[in-house]
Amino acid sequence: MKIDYENAITILRDIYWVGFEERDTNLHCNSYILIDDNEAVFFDTGSIPDFPTIMRKVLEVVDFKTVSLIVASHQDPDVCGNMVIVEDVVDNPDLKIAAHSNTARLIRHYGLKSDIYVVDNHNYKITLKSGRELEFIYAPFLHSPGAIVTYDKKTKTLFSGDLFGGVSKEWSLFEDDNLLQNMKAFHQLYMPSSKILTSFLNKLDSYEIERILPQHGSVIEGDSVKKAIEFLKSVPCGIDLIEK
Ligand SMILES: [Fe+2]
Ligand SMILES: [Fe+2]
Repeated sequence: MKIDYENAITILRDIYWVGFEERDTNLHCNSYILIDDNEAVFFDTGSIPDFPTIMRKVLEVVDFKTVSLIVASHQDPDVCGNMVIVEDVVDNPDLKIAAHSNTARLIRHYGLKSDIYVVDNHNYKITLKSGRELEFIYAPFLHSPGAIVTYDKKTKTLFSGDLFGGVSKEWSLFEDDNLLQNMKAFHQLYMPSSKILTSFLNKLDSYEIERILPQHGSVIEGDSVKKAIEFLKSVPCGIDLIEK
């Protein structure tokens, strides 16, 4: 079945892909919306050129005003470039932006107005109005000093930012046979060292993860989750390749 990337795509009953199918480069950017009762969380809002497409898709699944939290996995332009305009469009006075302090220090230069919820000052957790808890896991230097991933315990979903991302000309939102090779290519381009990467991946052992939603590449589900984690532990990147 051909997937229609022009519109929002349902990942789960309460999680939607609202990203951008990039036809000019090999880097497809994924943004996601999680809906929890009357509240919505927006993960990695995306870049400036993608803004109209992304927000049209967001509007397909939620009323803008219900977006009460934006999560910024790190400060990159493909993650946060459009955030200032998103704030304006959402127009929710209670809107907060969750980020690590090392990211917060940088993203304020985009000119953001909303309060920044510094995750490391809140025990790496946030509780939504319904009581649903999101946990942030610190992924230092992967690839940014303040990188975080977010774990939604309710659905056992990991919103992983650049981690588990892939680059490829042929792209599918849901994993295909090229998943591991696409991830390898991306991690070798952007991640600093296998030692740092593996130490983060080992942290994931204590989480029950049913699916990984990365900001690039493909959604990873079921048995592939463990496979992807173990595979990345064997990928030399960054300094490993430079020293070779
Ligand atoms: Fe990045
Ligand atoms: Fe990225």
